[in-house]
Amino acid sequence: MNSPVKIPDMSHLWMPFTANRQFKEAPRLLVAAKGMYYTSHDGRQILDGTSGLWCVNAGHGRSEIVEAISRQAAELDYAPSFQIGHPNAFLAASAIAQIMPAGMDRIFFTNSGSESVDTALKIALAYHRARGEGQRTRLIGRERGYHGVGFGGISVGGIGPNRKAFSGALIPGVDHLPHTHDLSKNANSHGQPEWGAHLADDLERIVALHDASTIAAVIVEPMAGSTGVLIPPKGYLERLRAITEKYGILLIFDEVISGFGRLGAATASELFGVTPDLITLAKGVSNASVPAGAVAVKHNIHDTIVGASAKGIEFFHGYTYSGHPLATAAILATLDIYKREKLFARAASLSPAFDTAAHKLEGGRHVIDVRNLGLVAGIELAPRPGAPGARAAEAFTKCFDQGLMVRYTGDTLAVSPPLIIDESQISQVFETIAAVLKTID
Ligand SMILES: Cc1ncc(COP(=O)(O)O)c(C=O)c1O
Repeated sequence: MNSPVKIPDMSHLWMPFTANRQFKEAPRLLVAAKGMYYTSHDGRQILDGTSGLWCVNAGHGRSEIVEAISRQAAELDYAPSFQIGHPNAFLAASAIAQIMPAGMDRIFFTNSGSESVDTALKIALAYHRARGEGQRTRLIGRERGYHGVGFGGISVGGIGPNRKAFSGALIPGVDHLPHTHDLSKNANSHGQPEWGAHLADDLERIVALHDASTIAAVIVEPMAGSTGVLIPPKGYLERLRAITEKYGILLIFDEVISGFGRLGAATASELFGVTPDLITLAKGVSNASVPAGAVAVKHNIHDTIVGASAKGIEFFHGYTYSGHPLATAAILATLDIYKREKLFARAASLSPAFDTAAHKLEGGRHVIDVRNLGLVAGIELAPRPGAPGARAAEAFTKCFDQGLMVRYTGDTLAVSPPLIIDESQISQVFETIAAVLKTID
């Protein structure tokens, strides 16, 4: 037990994606972190079952990253990102390119997943325009997709509440594929479900409706995390790739969560052997130590946009903090840890033990599904009658009280620990969840 830390005045902070009123009545504050553990304001050690928000893949407080950031801050705190560069931005881009699928070696820096998504959508539109097909502006997302909170991201995203308040201002010309989650067909799957590849064929319907010549890009998460851990059915991504290729439509994989080892490979694209045209990245790219994101782009897409432009700026897009010195120092140190400690391979080798531990919850109290891949598991609970989401919310709070951080979306609990987790901690995660589920209605 560490000494408790005083709770500050909480009235001024409007917290994101938070039930502000309930939170402030019973706050959960984190005051320190090291390795697999957070320290809470009341001095307890909390096992991090979610890598923060799916982002601290190398574990907390990595001294190599801390030193790289502090050295960088002392040496060059900031360099403008437009028309001027600094060495680490180029080095970090090269380091990311090295672990992307072959040919996806042009890197555009952002500061978050949301910015990566909006950037990727803009690159798709700019690419078609550069090829003389500027009429290809339609974007296709998927139901239950989460692509951050920019107007582009919520337009292609498929989460009702994230869109409702802004429905009048969503970008026009967007359509959605159906999601792939159906418990009558694929409950308690280990890894990729057998059923559901055919759902990708819905893209043919959308193409028939709008005509391929109007469609710029399809964006999906190869493995959806934030909307409740949706694992792609076997063959589904392959079909999406085949159909998009057939019609000259770009395929964007949003790998903000699935990138950097979460599934036991550098990217989901690598794991599934399906190469998209653009990959959005964030979170694990810097181990979340400094906000950072990136878009990896096939070099022919980059070359088309750059080559089509008259002399001068080729792509009118960028952020004050694109390739920020602190972010790129953190990225370089993070990627070095992933490589040196072979953390992606570690995630792959731990995944059978993770699978076994997760599926012990199968058929347990309130549990209607356990699904998993790599170091991700979703545990779906039967909703409380008349109160969807309430049961998972209570489980989340009780797990936290019991010293375990999980996440929940609707009635699904999500587990996605740092890749440095060991087998006894994996058992602890799922045993704590099982014990908590026994105590709630
Ligand atoms: C797939 C995906 N895309 C985009 C985002 C948005 O990232 P950020 O919160 O960094 O803007 C998230 C965040 O969870 C995500 O899971």
